[in-house]
Amino acid sequence: MKAVVLVGGQGSRLRPITYDVPKAMVPLRNQPFIGYMIDFLRDAELDGAVLSLGYLPDPIQRYFAGRDLNGFSIDYAVEDNPLGTAGGIKNSEEYLDGDSFVVVNGDVLSGMDLRVAIARHKESDALATIVLTSVEDPTAYGLVEVDHDMLVHRFIEKPAADEVTTSLVNAGIYVLEPAVLDMIPTGQEVSIEREIFPYLQAEGRLRAYVSSSYWRDIGTPRSYLAASHDILSGAVGTRNGFDYLHVEPSVVKGKGVKVLPPVSVAAGCILESGATIGGRSSLGRRCKIGEAALVEGSILFDGVEIESGAMVRGSIIGLGARIGQEAIVRGLSVLGGGCVIGEGNVLDQGIRINPRVVLSPQSISYS
Ligand code: GDD
Ligand code: MG
Repeated sequence: MKAVVLVGGQGSRLRPITYDVPKAMVPLRNQPFIGYMIDFLRDAELDGAVLSLGYLPDPIQRYFAGRDLNGFSIDYAVEDNPLGTAGGIKNSEEYLDGDSFVVVNGDVLSGMDLRVAIARHKESDALATIVLTSVEDPTAYGLVEVDHDMLVHRFIEKPAADEVTTSLVNAGIYVLEPAVLDMIPTGQEVSIEREIFPYLQAEGRLRAYVSSSYWRDIGTPRSYLAASHDILSGAVGTRNGFDYLHVEPSVVKGKGVKVLPPVSVAAGCILESGATIGGRSSLGRRCKIGEAALVEGSILFDGVEIESGAMVRGSIIGLGARIGQEAIVRGLSVLGGGCVIGEGNVLDQGIRINPRVVLSPQSISYS
């Protein structure tokens, strides 16, 4: 059995990070997100994945080039124009084998055992089985009403607050019969959530399977950071075991450096005297943390430089960005790749700085 992984979206809610890096390639504990997805599919004993690509496909294809996945196959179906979630599945048809198949949204992190959902699907007469998960606020998801037999009664994509009747939502993980492919026109933009699921529901051929395992969509800064914290603190199982204090041997540490677990510090980083790397931070390769600087609860992409006395807390810092001396970046701020934050700036309250923007010293200050 194969899976189609939908990774063609623009990741607009994760901008400015996704201006340069596709959502599937953002790091979690220094491994691109798509790596966790492939492990998830391999753990379910699937034979391979078709990556349904559109926006920024090259970094994803480069990541898999020459990578040995022990016989697990990777194929690419690249769209010239966005085809939507169902269109992306249809575009992957030539790589499927005519059997039932799995579809996953390429931005969900799940700890479930997919094999159980596949088995339930096969026992039923459904053309599609949707995995459901329970969330506090369903309005950002596809709301799914089911009866006691797990037959879907209603599917509402992004319900308004007054339409919320349950906490169960579409987890972005499906098992589909090949007959569903025949319902999707070729080369057209089609949404599985808005067009195909309501049709299957009306036909009585749409079922659900509720999972209570760990689940998170990483598509917003808040949820991406939360997923990173969860991976670092062991809330999500990972294939390669787990260690709270992952510091690569090549990391150079000055005097009085504090590294407080759980953290992950990748190869080639330099931590200068008195620097503190606080719990639940993840530092990419070749980051440089200056004297007495503090990094806490944050994600630093590769090559980030934090100058002396600066503080980064609960924020996401893109590839090669530089934070000047005594600057403060906090409160879920998101900085695009290559930007330079001059000394003494204070960034807060979810501010987003576009890639390669240069902020002169002391030009922004939240007090
Ligand atoms: N190939 C392709 N082409 N992929 C696409 C396209 C497209 O045109 N548009 C979006 N995708 C991919 C995205 O890259 C993402 O991995 C996945 O499809 C879902 O798109 P999102 O934009 O992340 O959707 P969402 O999070 O708002 O909602 C979806 O996921 C929720 C669960 O996280 C829906 O499926 C909801 O019903 C669901 O609850
Ligand atoms: Mg999403």
